[in-house]
Amino acid sequence: MKKYIKYNDIEVVYKENLHGGGIRFGQQFIPVVKEKFGHIDHVFEFCSGPGFIGFSLLANNLCDKLTVADINPEAIKVLNETISKNGLESKVAAYLSDCLDAIPETEKWDLVVGNPPHVLAKNEEEYKKDITLYDPQFNIHKKFYRDIRKFLKPTGSILLQEHTESTSVDDFKGMIEQNGLKIIDVFAYNSPVIFNSKKNGVGFNSTTFKKLINPIKVYKFLKRRIFPPIPRNYYFIHAKIA
Ligand SMILES: C[S@@+](CC[C@H](N)C(=O)[O-])C[C@H]1O[C@@H](n2cnc3c(N)ncnc32)[C@H](O)[C@@H]1O
Repeated sequence: MKKYIKYNDIEVVYKENLHGGGIRFGQQFIPVVKEKFGHIDHVFEFCSGPGFIGFSLLANNLCDKLTVADINPEAIKVLNETISKNGLESKVAAYLSDCLDAIPETEKWDLVVGNPPHVLAKNEEEYKKDITLYDPQFNIHKKFYRDIRKFLKPTGSILLQEHTESTSVDDFKGMIEQNGLKIIDVFAYNSPVIFNSKKNGVGFNSTTFKKLINPIKVYKFLKRRIFPPIPRNYYFIHAKIA
């Protein structure tokens, strides 16, 4: 079933099985990009799924152009729906691509963002069980860091979000440095999640109303909205061309 989430004027189409955290911890990119980079020209969202991070950066006027890519054709379908629904054809390009393999080299980016699969899988079989979660032998990260330089503008930055319980920066340091890149900063964003979508506000739509029927659910629902959980499990790696 299709779902929709609104970031300012952009309504993002998605399906629950395509959601890999971009609605929740992925929204940390908004304050982080605002603080560290301000407004930039062209953003690329790697392993974008439905593009929650990229579209919310665009909707918050933090970039002018957006490129998104994912290996899953279902994700590309919803990405294209979001593009046409919101009339974003002149600003957003979507590619079906295994890592960066199918991206034309004419693409040049100021900032690359993303929350790629963050759990190390032993092999391809394990990866295929959940492609939103597993990175087989870190091959996704290895291919990304091997190829990203040719798409980065000389002053461009890479900002990937990783999971503290699954990896540390040491897992990626080698692949970053071996490919002519350098780590600028590794940091966590530990403020409450920014629920910056209209659908995440406390409103009285039909879903909210159903929740009101059960007092325990109402309590949990309001508590989550008033005291949003602080996601301490994620960190960012900021890298640039060395
Ligand atoms: C953690 S999810 C993040 C999705 C989205 N950014 C979000 O937050 O909802 C990881 C994404 O990586 C994609 N993916 C997995 N393997 C890939 C590959 N080899 N190349 C490109 N994308 C890949 C998956 O399809 C999935 O959409």
